[in-house]
Amino acid sequence: MSDFVLVAKTSEIPDPGQLLVEVGERLVVLIHAAGHWYALDDICTHDGGPLSEGPLDAQSGTIVCPRHGAKFDIRTGAALTMPATKPTMAHEVKIDGDQIFVRLRDG
Ligand code: FES
Repeated sequence: MSDFVLVAKTSEIPDPGQLLVEVGERLVVLIHAAGHWYALDDICTHDGGPLSEGPLDAQSGTIVCPRHGAKFDIRTGAALTMPATKPTMAHEVKIDGDQIFVRLRDG
């Protein structure tokens, strides 16, 4: 399993808010919503749309792909609506003081 990587400071992302970060060679969207932190691959599983550019709905815990509107669960990466049918990868987030760390899940 990979290590936790420092990606940002908590002050950089409002609640609700999102930020595109790099973890190794991977693009990950870091999400702050309702006091919690989440990290997903910045890839819509329909056709590769950038989830970091889509609207976040902290109330329902979803983010929408800006290309064709597929909705994903920010906690699990599950695809909730068409045209996406497969989950995007959800990664582990750890907060230490004002620092945000992400550990990539394999895959
Ligand atoms: S690329 Fe995301 S819905 Fe099509």
